[in-house]
Amino acid sequence: MPHPQPSPLTVPAASRLAGRIRVPGDKSISHRALMLAALAVGESRVEGLLEGEDVLATAAALRAMGARIERDAGGVWTIHGVGVGGLLQPAAALEMGNSGTSTRLLMGLVASHPITATFTGDASLSARPMERVITPLSRMGADITASPGGRLPLMLRGLCPAVPIEYELPVASAQVKSAILLAGLNTPGITRVIEPVPTRDHSERMLAGFGAQVEVEETARGRVISITGEAELRPQRIVVPGDPSSAAFWLVAASIVPGSDVVIENVGLNPTRAGLVTALRMMGADIAELDPRTVGGEPVADLRVRHAALSAITVPHDLAPSMIDEYPALFVAAAFAAGRTVARGADELRVKESDRIAAMRAALEANGVSVTEHDDGLSIDGTRGDAIPGGGSVATHLDHRIAMSMTIAALHARAPVTIDDVSPVATSYPVFFDQLADLTGASA
Ligand code: S3P
Repeated sequence: MPHPQPSPLTVPAASRLAGRIRVPGDKSISHRALMLAALAVGESRVEGLLEGEDVLATAAALRAMGARIERDAGGVWTIHGVGVGGLLQPAAALEMGNSGTSTRLLMGLVASHPITATFTGDASLSARPMERVITPLSRMGADITASPGGRLPLMLRGLCPAVPIEYELPVASAQVKSAILLAGLNTPGITRVIEPVPTRDHSERMLAGFGAQVEVEETARGRVISITGEAELRPQRIVVPGDPSSAAFWLVAASIVPGSDVVIENVGLNPTRAGLVTALRMMGADIAELDPRTVGGEPVADLRVRHAALSAITVPHDLAPSMIDEYPALFVAAAFAAGRTVARGADELRVKESDRIAAMRAALEANGVSVTEHDDGLSIDGTRGDAIPGGGSVATHLDHRIAMSMTIAALHARAPVTIDDVSPVATSYPVFFDQLADLTGASA
């Protein structure tokens, strides 16, 4: 799962992007589908699961704790759950690869089971802060020994029965919220999370879908989410919608490369995830929603995006949680807009798979874009639609979204852009380069 062999790539410009693609399943929803199915009593089926390395890390960990998880030849996944409270002691360390979501959500699951698990990860994951989950899960009774700085590798000994807590999130984080709610599943009484700023709500939606007693209230303190344990989960059939965070690259690519016209099928448009569409439309992007529908309890549409002249904006701070993973793609859009785009209020970008503020500043600057770095974001002077100079090299720091964002930037550059390692793309979007070839005609 680590990437010992870097895989460099030089990306040339494209004349245009055209055609239809279907983005793979949503990463956040795929993790949750596997975890909740693993805790249900009986057999669940999941269609459209993202088969990226991050989600496969979750599947492997759940198998190591007793769930039976299989994939049929048609790509449908079957999960035989062990029941809430039924996770077994894993025989070896749980290898989380690059995946923060696997780590933090599974820590929540283990925290209220009478088992001990060691979590390990690659260099990127081992540099990310885990204190944000260690604090609330310790309050629930878990005994956690982490590496210095609250990092991986760490060992977590769950407590059963755990202690229900009420916890106000100090950072806007769906992972922390979800870790606590998942721990609450096997905790007697009511576990409550208060989020001052709403974050992606897939956990709440799916927990309710599996039959857990979950209540969500909007209050003066923010959204209050309560879960009653000890829950019993009923197996489900789940269809995972396409990942808006993967669609993001084509929304930006088609917007910046003249002559482009692309339809992206099956894009999840949960309002807690759709901030990039809002921001791009503010910039003048031409994005149409076709055939809006509901898939797996989530709003979905096909998106048609055509090249458009983009104008700089100041990105509203309150959009940040609903586009937190899309800032690298937005920074690329800004590089081609008319004027100076200011994207701030996103200091969480410093602790993603890489420091995405520093990584994108360096990557854009190396390719001739004028960028100012702030503690909580970037200001970017755009080209007014012209190609960027390009010709530089990009350090991806084991971060899939840096690799994909700079690949997109290269599509409208005067000289090819070299990316030091595109292997991390497999964590979230294994068919990214195939779809790029389809859309640019490079495969013809
Ligand atoms: C995720 C939540 C976000 C996001 C990550 C996936 C999730 O992280 O960046 O890619 O599935 O809950 P934070 O909770 O750290 O904001």
